[in-house]
Order: sequence, then C-alpha cells, then structure tokens
Amino acid sequence: MKALAVNGSPRQNGNTALLLQTVLNELSARGIETELFQLGGHPVSGCRACMGCRQRQNRRCVIEQDIINECIAKMVAADAIIIGSPTYFANVTTEIKALMDRAGYVAMANGRMLARKIGAAVVVHRRGGAVPVFDALNRFFLISGMIVPGATYWNFAVGRNPGEVAEDVEGLANMRHLAETVAWLLECTRNQR
Ligand SMILES: Cc1cc2nc3c(=O)[nH]c(=O)nc-3n(C[C@H](O)[C@H](O)[C@H](O)COP(=O)(O)O)c2cc1C
Repeated sequence: MKALAVNGSPRQNGNTALLLQTVLNELSARGIETELFQLGGHPVSGCRACMGCRQRQNRRCVIEQDIINECIAKMVAADAIIIGSPTYFANVTTEIKALMDRAGYVAMANGRMLARKIGAAVVVHRRGGAVPVFDALNRFFLISGMIVPGATYWNFAVGRNPGEVAEDVEGLANMRHLAETVAWLLECTRNQR
C-alpha cells in the first residue's frame, strides 16, 4: 500500500512540508510505503478547457510542458493521496489549483480513475483562511469519488515562517491522528480498489 503526499507550497521545506512529513512518518511507522512529491515552486499551467483529455483518454493532460502529468501518474499509483497547501489569500496555491483542475478532469475522462482512493487535505495558515482551502481540497476528493478520513480536528495548523508550525503541538497531534485513520482505512480497504 502506498501513500503519496503532494506539497503545494513553493517552500519545499516550509510548514506544509513539515505537516505532510508528520503524516508520512506515522504512516511509514505502520509499514505503509510513502512518498513526498514537491509540486510547489514549479511553473504550472491551468486547465485550457480543450477537452483533449476526453478525446485521448490516456490518463494524461495534453499539456506536457510541466510536472502535472508526473504528479497525476503518482496519484494513480497511490492508494492514499494527501494534498497539502498553505493558505494564500484564503485559497489554495496556484500549483494546487492547477493540479485539481487538470487531475480532476483527466480522472473524469478516464473512468473516474481516482475513485475509492483515500484523500486527505492538510493546510497551513498564519492567522485565518484555512477553512476554504480545506473545503476546496475536500470537494476535489469528494467529486472524484474518493474516501475522506477524519481526524480529531480539521487538518490545519498555524505557522508563518518555515518551521514555525512545529510549535503548534495540537496541530501536529492532529496530523498523527489523521495518519492513524488513513492507515486504518487502507487496511480495511486492502484489495478493494
Ligand atoms: C501570497 C501569500 C498569501 C498568504 N495568505 C494568507 C492568508 O490568507 N491567511 C493566512 O493565515 N496566511 C496567509 N499567508 C501565510 C502562509 O499561509 C504561511 O506563511 C504558511 O505557513 C506558509 O506555508 P509554507 O511554509 O508551507 O509555505 C500567505 C502567504 C503568502 C506568501
């Protein structure tokens, strides 16, 4: 079983990465294969609404010049997908928006290829605005037919400068609890996807 974490922050070693790594460490300790994919900071294009993915149906977006297709392929290979985004003006980052639009459309064009995978959102904010980010990511998982696990609180934590989120003890505990539920769900749904 494999869990993929996608970091949508342009800061590869920032707070989002720290939260995602906390989830992955807990999953890894439970024998689950893990990978952290750095999406943030790479130039990405938005969906062109060309419908090329519907025509080709090859599990890829027609835009080949950026790393979104690499990310889509890793999502297809994973059993659990954890997407992390910092809060940018109460929204996801540009990179995550491009991923949701393009991976979401490619998935629909290819037999709902993300359905029944586990999807979890992880969000960082400095002060406010994490809820709409969490909401946008969960809506992406739900429209894709994915299974969304809960934790003890909603999956966000507080921090501004890189590493600051480590001081949010309750936020970090939530990430470990999220991982426990993801691991439990992975075990329950083994051989079902
Ligand atoms: C362009 C931009 C917009 C931001 N907007 C918000 C915001 O709306 N609310 C908030 O609490 N923090 C906001 N922040 C702060 C980041 O969410 C915060 O620094 C976070 O820890 C960054 O995560 P990272 O270290 O993974 O990049 C913003 C930061 C940037 C660069």
